[in-house]
Amino acid sequence: MSIDYGADVLGNLADLVLRAPKAELHLHIEGTLEPEMAFEIARRNGVPLPFVGPREMRQAYTFHDLQSFLEIYYTAAAVLRTEDDFHDLAWAYLQRARADNVVRAEIFFDPQAHTSRGISFETVVRGLTRAIERARVELQMSAALIMCFLRHLTQREAFETLEQALPFRQHFIGVGLDSGERNNPPERFTEVFSRCRLLGLHAVAHAGEEGPAAFVSGALDALKVERIDHGVRCLEDRALVARLMRERIPLTVCPLSNIKLRVFEKLSRHNLPKLLAAGLRASVHSDDPAYFGGYVNDNLRSSLTALPLTRDDAHTLLRNSLESSFLETSQKAPHLERLEEMFAR
Ligand code: ADE
Ligand code: ZN
Repeated sequence: MSIDYGADVLGNLADLVLRAPKAELHLHIEGTLEPEMAFEIARRNGVPLPFVGPREMRQAYTFHDLQSFLEIYYTAAAVLRTEDDFHDLAWAYLQRARADNVVRAEIFFDPQAHTSRGISFETVVRGLTRAIERARVELQMSAALIMCFLRHLTQREAFETLEQALPFRQHFIGVGLDSGERNNPPERFTEVFSRCRLLGLHAVAHAGEEGPAAFVSGALDALKVERIDHGVRCLEDRALVARLMRERIPLTVCPLSNIKLRVFEKLSRHNLPKLLAAGLRASVHSDDPAYFGGYVNDNLRSSLTALPLTRDDAHTLLRNSLESSFLETSQKAPHLERLEEMFAR
C-alpha cells in the first residue's frame, strides 16, 4: 500500500526529489543503449540486428529473469565496434543523467562483452573516457568507470581482462562483478579481486539480485567489496542484515530493474521501504535504463508513487547515493550541503 499523500503533496515531494542532486552508482553503460541508437550504430557499422526496427526491438523487452534479459543485452551491445560508438553511447547517457540532476555517475562497463568479439580494450576505454572528460568540461559533471568481470566466465578470463586493462589503470576507479548470478557464487573470483584491491581499485559486486543472501555474505567475505549492487535478498538472513547495518554497507537498489526481471512481482511489492526501515544504507539507481523503463529519476518517481516512502525516506535515499559514492569527502560536501538546503526548506 502506498501512503495517501494526495496528489499535491506527492507532486511536491517528487518534484523536490527530481530536482535534488544525486549520484548514479548502479548503471551499466551497455544498458543505456536505446533501440534508436542501436539501429543507428548498427547501420553505420554494417552490423545486423535481429529486429526489424527500434519499435520491434522494444517490443521484445519482456523478460522472465536475468538470463533472458542478458541474452538481448549482449546481442544489442554487439553493434558497438569503434571508439566513437563507445563515446556516443556514454555521451548520450551523461547528458540524460545531467537532466536528472545526477552530479556524480560511477558507470559500469563490461569489457569482456566486447573483447570477446575482437574489439580491443583500448577502443572501449578510450571512447568511454572521452565522453567522461567531455561531461566534466561541458556539463560540470563528475563521472568515473568501474570495470566489471562477467561472472559466467572464468576467473582465468577475468585475470586476462585485468592484464589488458592495466595499461589503462588510470581510466577506471574500481572493479565489479555482474552477469548471470545463478550458480556463479562470488568466491569463484576471490583471487582476481584480491589482486585488484592490491592495485588500489575499489571493489563492488552484484549479489542478492537473483542469487541468495549467502552470495551477499560471500561478496563481503571473499571479495571484500565496499558496496553491494542490488542486495535486495539480504532480508532473508537476519544476521546478514545486522552485519550490513553495522558495517554500513551501501546497497545500490534498482526498483524498475527488479520488476522487469521479476525479482518482485510488482513495484508495490518491492522491499525498498523494508530495507530503509531496517536501517540499511540503500539508494535508488537505474541498472539498464534503456531496457527497464527509465533512468534514475524515473526509478525515484515510480518508487515514490507505488511505495509507502516518506519525505524522510526520500531524503535518506538521496543522501545515501551521494555518501556511498567513491568521491573524496571534500568533493561530496557541496552536493550534500545543497541536498540538505533543499530538504530544509
Ligand atoms: N548486467 C547488466 N545488467 C545486469 C544486472 N541487472 N544483473 C547482473 N548483470 C547485469
Ligand atoms: Zn546491474
